[in-house]
Amino acid sequence: MGLRIYLSMLVASLLAAQPRVPRAWDEQGFVGWQLPIVGQKFTTGHFTEEEYYGAPVENVRTYPVYAPDREPKGYWDFLNSIGPKPLVEPGKLKTERDWIEAGRRVFEELDFVASRRYDTELIRKLRSRAYVAERSIEPLPDGTMPYIRWVVTQKGVAIALRECAGCHLRWAPGPAPGGKPYHGAPENMPFPNFDFSFVDLGAGVYLPQGDDAPAIRWRSHSVPWIPNDIHARIKTMTNQEWGAWDDASNGMGMAARWDGSIYYPTKIPDLIGIKDRKFFDHTATHRHRGIEDLMRYAAQVMSADSPHFGPYDIVPRTGRRVPYRLSDEALYALALYIYSLEPPPNPNRFDTAAAAGQKIFTVNCARCHTPPLYTNNKLTLARGFLPDGSSPDVMPVSVGTDPAGAMLTRKGTGYYKVPSLKGVWYRGRLLHDGSLASLEEFFNPARLRPDFEPAGWNPVGVKRRAVVGHEFGLKLSVQERAQLIAFLKTL
Ligand code: HEC
Ligand code: HEC
Repeated sequence: MGLRIYLSMLVASLLAAQPRVPRAWDEQGFVGWQLPIVGQKFTTGHFTEEEYYGAPVENVRTYPVYAPDREPKGYWDFLNSIGPKPLVEPGKLKTERDWIEAGRRVFEELDFVASRRYDTELIRKLRSRAYVAERSIEPLPDGTMPYIRWVVTQKGVAIALRECAGCHLRWAPGPAPGGKPYHGAPENMPFPNFDFSFVDLGAGVYLPQGDDAPAIRWRSHSVPWIPNDIHARIKTMTNQEWGAWDDASNGMGMAARWDGSIYYPTKIPDLIGIKDRKFFDHTATHRHRGIEDLMRYAAQVMSADSPHFGPYDIVPRTGRRVPYRLSDEALYALALYIYSLEPPPNPNRFDTAAAAGQKIFTVNCARCHTPPLYTNNKLTLARGFLPDGSSPDVMPVSVGTDPAGAMLTRKGTGYYKVPSLKGVWYRGRLLHDGSLASLEEFFNPARLRPDFEPAGWNPVGVKRRAVVGHEFGLKLSVQERAQLIAFLKTL
């Protein structure tokens, strides 16, 4: 074989081994990606390609934080001597498995960069037995502390919040001995009772200089085009009042995201199986047309959230910036990994009760929760929403659940998507707003009454209230309901 031919074959085989890494942030990708905001002519705004790719690339490894008594010998010296290590090394990735494994590391280790603190007093506290005891902070069974990581950078060792794995990681069956962490499933760990807020300390990097905590909180949730927007109250709220809403709406499977609402928060959705689902977010804010869309969604939630909407600026145009980004290779690996996630092993057997339940399901539920995905991938109307015109993605029906998330937030599209029921047995929260905490509660007809006490999310100061809507299955007999639940638990 001539040397030339040999070399060109070698090059061809090397090229074949290297995947084409899609570009996460390009104007083309935004075309038709976001759904319009309910009642408005605009969609979520976005940073330009220039702004996005102009941001510095973050790429450092992070390490578990052990409870003071559980730290391996020499661990702290090790962290302080190793120096920054790259999170992803694309040049070393040869096979698809390598890429997925690289994505696993991004998911596991990525920190919320804006939350990094190098403050020696804060770090001393977090490593001290007295502080952890005084705040009753419980380590996980593996001796680590939930939600936080050590980050080794050029500047030294910092403490930071976890990024994706802070919310999309579940200990199953629970955060007790015998439990194991599962990536992608919604979190179920109490947030440690720290006496400081990482987010208030950190989120400022996105926002105009001089913004204080109330301004940051208000920018996260305010909806400037809605008259009498409830979020205007945030500006004058006391820290105590904010703290109460923060406790209610963040943690134990719930999160009030940027563009979402501290008053109308959403549950954390399950990422396992997401490859087959056509929309992101409970209100279908974005379409999921391919891996680029997942990469862009991840890039956006990590450091490039919407700065403006049509004529409304959430962050002043002169002050807006993308503080950092991941490389497209890291985002691609992360997305491949999310596509590969598998559910925890299901302990529920398909028995005779489940078989009877399956029949009930087929008659009452399958037109929306269509097998094998257990969603028809369509959208339903929020109560009171009348879209102009029809769309093949939309079922012109409303299941009648609380409309606020879809109508009164910056994530409001007027729609709630039909969720997949795969994995519904391990999800801790049900309905977009996480009001209900089990299938038994979901199918309890008493939940329609105003004296009902929901076990899931409740507004601050409220214990009893009706959880209305989605009445399918509520009129079945007690036995039929038990059979239906037995079937749902096998999915
Ligand atoms: C603070 C908690 C939190 C963090 C951190 C977080 N997410 Fe989420 N994620 C949520 C919540 C809550 C939603 C649902 C928002 C909604 O419905 O409006 C969500 C939605 C999603 C969705 C859409 C899923 C669906 O089925 O609708 C994807 C994909 C996703 N997150 C990926 C990520 C990735 C990747 C990261 C890390 C870069 C990340 N998330 C970080 C809380 C979080
Ligand atoms: C007309 C379409 C439709 C029918 C029929 C329907 N559902 Fe749903 N289902 C939905 C929508 C939409 C939601 C989300 C509502 C929300 O979050 O506000 C949902 C949510 C759920 C949830 C909560 C899932 C989660 O992750 O929050 C369960 C469980 C569920 N449905 C089970 C059933 C069962 C069982 C039946 C039949 C007895 C049924 N559904 C019939 C549309 C439907």
